Order: sequence, then structure tokens, then C-alpha cells
Amino acid sequence: MHADAARALFRERFSGAPLHDVRAPGRVNLIGEHTDYNEGFVLPCAIDRAVVACAAQAVDGRVVACSRELPEPVEIGLPGLERRGPGWGRYLHGVLAALQEFGAPIGGCRIALASDLPHGAGLASSAALCAALVRLCDALYGLQLDPLSRARLAHRAESHFVGVGCGIMDPWICVFGRRGAALRLDCRSESIEHVALPTTGLALLVVDSGVRHALAEGDYGDRLGECRTALRELQQAGLLPSSAQALRDFDPAALGAAESRLTPRSFRRLRHVLSENERVEAVVAALRRADPAAAGRWLDAGMRSLQADYEVSRPELDALCAIAADLPGVLGSRLTGAGFGGCTLHFVEPAAREGVEAALLAGFAARFGRRPRHWWVESADGAELL
Ligand code: GLA
Repeated sequence: MHADAARALFRERFSGAPLHDVRAPGRVNLIGEHTDYNEGFVLPCAIDRAVVACAAQAVDGRVVACSRELPEPVEIGLPGLERRGPGWGRYLHGVLAALQEFGAPIGGCRIALASDLPHGAGLASSAALCAALVRLCDALYGLQLDPLSRARLAHRAESHFVGVGCGIMDPWICVFGRRGAALRLDCRSESIEHVALPTTGLALLVVDSGVRHALAEGDYGDRLGECRTALRELQQAGLLPSSAQALRDFDPAALGAAESRLTPRSFRRLRHVLSENERVEAVVAALRRADPAAAGRWLDAGMRSLQADYEVSRPELDALCAIAADLPGVLGSRLTGAGFGGCTLHFVEPAAREGVEAALLAGFAARFGRRPRHWWVESADGAELL
């Protein structure tokens, strides 16, 4: 997404020229789903679809933001942060509230936003928006935040102030993404490691099932609660000490012993989280060996676990992965993001791109009567000032 789109909007809506431009990418998660809030491992990759924003200060004590994609502007009054305008203003409000809580001196400003990141498709559009706004405010108010503080503030804005109890994966990848690499993140220690993607032999196809699901709608929160229940059951059975913080603490080698002690649902949730953590390490190892075919097989295994054990798939996502599995040149497929709708990710041999794209879209259309949107994505850098 080019910053010019936001600059043009700024000139049209506000007088004067913007002073700062930022770009924050969306992400596709390669593997490590529903592990972040269990303090496990994830392996997302920032993509070349992004939110861009530009801004200038204003002396009237009002923060006014407009978006190219959504007609109505948002207005927030300082210092109390009274908000007027459409629902997406919650994210701007959340970022300002997180900054205020942090002690940042916030003043009036004008903000223009544009995005080519599909909204609500599971590609972290809201985390990208928060990361872009944090980076922009950092520049506007001269805060000199380090990247870790920016990631934490973006997460605080969405998880606490907007109130979506999400994990840390999305704000971290939106901040720490790097072109040419995926990000291995330990969601307990917050330690990060960039894992180079193979320079040949791997193309990333993202297909939007068109099924929409807002995180705040409940299923995601249900899974959070179910993981807490599973943790409690393990502790009550004496299989984990009461000091254990998350399912991450359970030793995968002891899974057999847990089966008869947990309710079937808790056992399935636990088995997904533990096996998914192992798959993250396996995909990291495969990428390091530049072996996308092996990595792809772990994607398939991850999908089976999300279907059977974590139960977050949908018929459209199942169908995309099943159709892809029979196509020559597809190395592996899975749903990406929270599930319940959103997108699938396919590892594809570059030479097979055209054939895979045509057959996958046609196969989906034959079954559901519509052609899904899709994108070949490239890795990208995290949120940056332009
Ligand atoms: C959403 C959340 C993330 C993560 C994924 C599932 O994208 O925002 O924190 O929990 O779902 O892996």
C-alpha cells in the first residue's frame, strides 16, 4: 500500500500537509495457532498488504481521523477522550487511552488512513491499525518509543481498551516483521527470532473463505475460557502444580496420563496446544533447512489439529484445504488466524502458481457458488515511519 493514498486523503479532508507517514503490515501466521494466549510459540510473517497513515498536529485539542475505506470520520476530544463517529474509532480511542495510561503527552492532531488489508479476514487488520497509530503518535508527540514498547502499547490498546482479549502474536508481528523472514515468538518470554524464508521454492497463497467472524463475538473468548478450564483440571488432578500459569507448562510426554483425567474437550484443547507448539519448532527447523515441502506437511498436520482438537474450522476452510491437498505443487495448507472463518494459507511451489490458483478457485466456486478473493503475499517489514 502506497503512502500517497493516505496523503491524498489528508489534503482532501484537512488543510495543510501531513508531517509524518507510517506503514504497518498485516500478517499471515505460518503455524502456531491459538498458542499465544497459552504462552506458547507462534511463527507469523508480516505481509505486503498494509495500513498506511499520515498525520499532522493540530492546536484545537481534537484528534480527528478519516479513512479512505470508511466514509465517516472519527473525532476524539482531549483530555477525556470522548469519542464520536463510527465503530473503528474504538481502535484510535484504544491507542490514545493506552498512550495516556503510559504517561505520553497527547495533543490534537489530524490523521488520514488508507489500507489494502482486507478487514476482518483474519490477517490482523486491527493489530496493523493499532501498530500504525502507535507508530504515528510516537512520531507526532516525540515519544521515542522502542519497538517493544510500541508492540506492548498496540496490544494494550486492542486487548484492554477495545476489549478483545487477544494474545500478543498480532501486535508483535506488525511491529517486528522483517522482509524475507518469519518471526518465531515465544509468547511467554516475549523473545523473538527471525527465521529466514527460503528464497526459492516457496510461494504463499492466501485465500479468503468469505466467512466473517469478529473476534469479539464469543467463539474466541470461549476457547480462551476452555484453555483456562483445562489448566484448572490439570491442576486439580495433580498433573500440574498450582503455580503453573498456562497449558504451555504441561509436558507433552505426559499427555497419555492426562487423557483419562480430563474432560474430553479439555483433553482435545490441551493436545492441540502442545502439538501445535511442537509444530512451530518443526516448521522453524524445516525452513532453516530450506525444505518447504517438509514445512508444508506440518501445515497439513496443524490443520487436522485445528479441525479435530481445537474445533475452529468451518466447511469453507475445510474445503479450501481439501481441494488444495489434491493439487500438484501444493506443499501444505491450513487455516490461518483465529479460524471460525477468515483465510486459508497454502504453501505452493512457485512453478505451480497459476495452475493451483485456477484449480483451487474453480473447485471452491463449484461447491459454494462464488469465487473467493485471494492474494499471493510476500514477506514485509514491520511498522515503519516512511
Ligand atoms: C487471533 C488473535 C491472536 C491469536 C490468533 C489465533 O488472530 O488476535 O492473538 O490468538 O487469533 O492463533
